[in-house]
Amino acid sequence: MKKVFVILIVLLCFLTGCQKKEEETADDYELDYLVLVNKLNPLPEDWENKVRTVHMTNSIGDDVEVEQRAYDAYLLLKEDLEKEGIFVDLDSARRSIAAQQQIVDDFTEKYGADYTAKVVATPGFSEHHTGLALDLYLIIDGVDVVENEDMVQYPEIWAKIHEKLDDYGFILRYLEGKEHITGYAYEPWHIRYLNDKEIAKEIMDKGITFEGYLGAVNETEVALEYGDSALFEREELDEVFTRIKCRFASWKGVELNGLKYAGDECNSEENLAWLNSLEGGGGYTRAVEVLSSFHTPKEGYGTLEADHQYEDYQWWLVCDEEGDWDIVSYGY
Ligand code: DAL
Ligand code: ZN
Repeated sequence: MKKVFVILIVLLCFLTGCQKKEEETADDYELDYLVLVNKLNPLPEDWENKVRTVHMTNSIGDDVEVEQRAYDAYLLLKEDLEKEGIFVDLDSARRSIAAQQQIVDDFTEKYGADYTAKVVATPGFSEHHTGLALDLYLIIDGVDVVENEDMVQYPEIWAKIHEKLDDYGFILRYLEGKEHITGYAYEPWHIRYLNDKEIAKEIMDKGITFEGYLGAVNETEVALEYGDSALFEREELDEVFTRIKCRFASWKGVELNGLKYAGDECNSEENLAWLNSLEGGGGYTRAVEVLSSFHTPKEGYGTLEADHQYEDYQWWLVCDEEGDWDIVSYGY
């Protein structure tokens, strides 16, 4: 009898021990949900060991990996949207370095390096590595709308989705007009989980970037001067400005204040000949000069003077007959 009692005690200790271990594992899950990953800040080194993810299969049959709490929050958001007749699914969430490299390679081959830098992060510097960034796609009348150029045709649906994000701890990450801070063109589909509804609400209500909220940058606006061009549509100049703004996001501590189209006279034969003669050049049919004004940080920056207000700092962009743009030269 004594023996049975001892065995029971040992068994009980073992079982409670196991339970404790499980509880500890659950409680032990600590993740920095406010981690900043952008053009200047890579994925923290220990992230891979810390993050816990789940896998799901989307409507197209692709496997998508998501950080576990972000996925739970996403399911609630999705359910809420469905009540309003809006149907979404997950195109992509967590990506490995290799998967990101594949995207960069595909885009570079198809659209060139300059366009790629505007829409795809360098491997190691993508928020997607965290598992907290989710790319949504729309399902409209039962049809998957996955391509970026198709998804942007539904701004009113995206607006309704964005309105609900903070209720579930998400923010919209790449805002229109804030490309000089985020480093990327507007992406209505890319949402970021913060695991904190109050912070998400503050960011969404103020319409600020995550960088601005964290104090990593000053939340500045850029004044755009389009001038009066007979050569370029406003959308083309917007594309030019966005390319330049995306570059500025990787100039640490530099505050961009304004971009100004320099005028149609810059598209001279002489300038085109010069730009086509530059390394990697050729086949360019139109050229744009943009003048930028910006302020450098106190500790100086590369070849730029420290704590200096630059005015009329030049940027030269060119485009070929297909309308593909490239930044080919900048500086004084
Ligand atoms: N499209 C976002 C910027 C990424 O590649 O992470
Ligand atoms: Zn994304």
